[in-house]
Amino acid sequence: MAVPGAFVIFGATGDLARRMLFPSLYFLDADGLLPWDLKIIGAARSKLTDQQFRAEVEESVRARAGSFFSKEAWEGFSKRLVYAGGDASDGASYIALREKLSGAGGALFYLSTSPALYIPIVRGLASQGLTVEPNRIIVEKPIGKSRATCEAINTAIAEHFSEPRTFRIDHYLGKETVQNLIALRFGNALFEPLWNRHNIDHVQITVAETLGVEGRFAYYDEYGATRDMVQNHLLQLLCLIAMEPPSNMRAESVRSEKVKVLRSLRPIHDAELAQKTVRGQYTRGVTDGKSVPGYAEEEGGKASDTETFVAICAHLDNWRWAGVPFYLRTGKRLPSRFSQITIQFKNVPHSIFNGSALLANRLTITLQPEESIALTIMNKTPTLTQGGYELQPLSLNLSLLDAFKGEKRRRIAYERLLLEAISDNSTLFVRRDEAEAAWLWVDRIIEGWSRTGMKPAPYQAGSWGPAGAFALTERNGHSWYE
Ligand code: BG6
Repeated sequence: MAVPGAFVIFGATGDLARRMLFPSLYFLDADGLLPWDLKIIGAARSKLTDQQFRAEVEESVRARAGSFFSKEAWEGFSKRLVYAGGDASDGASYIALREKLSGAGGALFYLSTSPALYIPIVRGLASQGLTVEPNRIIVEKPIGKSRATCEAINTAIAEHFSEPRTFRIDHYLGKETVQNLIALRFGNALFEPLWNRHNIDHVQITVAETLGVEGRFAYYDEYGATRDMVQNHLLQLLCLIAMEPPSNMRAESVRSEKVKVLRSLRPIHDAELAQKTVRGQYTRGVTDGKSVPGYAEEEGGKASDTETFVAICAHLDNWRWAGVPFYLRTGKRLPSRFSQITIQFKNVPHSIFNGSALLANRLTITLQPEESIALTIMNKTPTLTQGGYELQPLSLNLSLLDAFKGEKRRRIAYERLLLEAISDNSTLFVRRDEAEAAWLWVDRIIEGWSRTGMKPAPYQAGSWGPAGAFALTERNGHSWYE
C-alpha cells in the first residue's frame, strides 16, 4: 500500500499517545499531510464511546498545541477518530477491531503499550488475518530488556510482519537536529576529509535531563539509564556521527552503515568496567530551582541498584576511528536539560605563535534545548602586541532557531516519524539487526556490572553525576564540555 487507510494506536489512553501521538497526528492533519481518508482508531482497555474518546483526545491535543490549537483543524481531525475498546490479550477484541477496519484498506498498527503486550497483540491481530500485507506495524521502545528478549520479540513479530513492514521507533531519529547531522556531514565538503582519527581527538555525546523518573519508577527501576537511553538514543547518535557515507538516503543504505558502527563497538570487559564506565544514582538535591527527592524516595520508589546516570568511554574498532574515545553520558536530575555532541579536533602540529595558547578546534552540535551548531576557531585579537600576535578562541555560531525564524512552531519528533511510517519509508527507523547489535554491546556492560558487583555511586540531584564521571575523561587528559 502506498498509504494506509487506518492508523490504529494500541495504548490509546496512555501517556505517550496523549502527549505525543495524537498531537502529532493532529498537527500533520492541520498541515494537510495526512491521507484525506485516513481513519485513526484508538484501542485501549477502558470502556469509552467514540464521543468520550474524542473528548479525551481533544483535551490532550489542546494541552500540547496551546496557542497553535485551531478549532477548525480540530473539527476536521476529530472526524477521523474512532474508539475500539477491549483487552489486548482477549481474542474477542480483535474481532471487533477487524469489523472497525473493514473497508478501510491497509492498516498501520502502532504499539504504544507495555512491551509485555507486544506479542499478544501481534498474535491477536494475526488471529483475525490483520497481519497480512499490506498492513504494517510500528513498535515503541523498549523492545526487550536484553539482546535475548529483544530477539524473542522481533522473532514473534517477524512471524507475522516481514522486516520491511516493521517500524521500530527511536524518537531521537525524528528530531530535526539529529537529522541535520546527516546534512552537516554529507551535505558539506568541509567536514568529511577531517572526520577521522587523524584529525579528531575525541567525541562527546551528552544527553542530560533535569527531570527525575516522573511517576515511572516501576518501569525505570527495571531498566535504568543504560537500557532506557544508551541502548537506543545515544547509540543512534553515535551511529550518525561515526558511520561511513551511505551511497544514498534509502533505508537499507543508511541502516547498513549504522549497523557496521554498532558491530565495531569494542566490547568492554569486566576488568575494564571501573575505568571505562561510571554508574550513578541521584540523591536529594535541587534542580530547576526546586528541592527534589532522591531516586529511592520518588513516588513508588524503593532502595535499588538501578543507575540514573551512566558515562561510558567507548571505542570503535575500525580504520576511521581507531584510538578515538567516544564519551557517552546521560542522566536524570542533572543541572540542565541539554543534549550535545562535541567533536574535539586535534591540536595544530606546531605553534608559531609564541605566548598564545592555542585551543584546538571544536565542533559543538546542540540538539536541546536550543538547536545550534558552533565551531570554535582561533582568531587574532585586534590589538597591537609588541613582538607578535595575540590569539583567542572565537565561535562561529549557527543558531537554527534564528536561521529558521519563519518556522512558526517547533515540531514534535514524532510528527516526522509518523509521516514517514505512513509513507512507508523506514530510513528513520531502527532495523532488527541494529537493535540487536546495540543490545549485545550494552548487555555485556550491564552483565559485567552485576558480575563484578559494581553498584551506582550516589550523586546529588542538580550535580553533573558522580566524581567518577570526571575521572573517566581526565584519565585520558580530557574533560567534559558543559
Ligand atoms: C525516553 C526515555 O525514551 O526519552 C525517557 O524513556 C527520557 O526516560 C526521554 O526522559 C528523553 O527524551 P527527550 O526527547 O525529552 O530528550
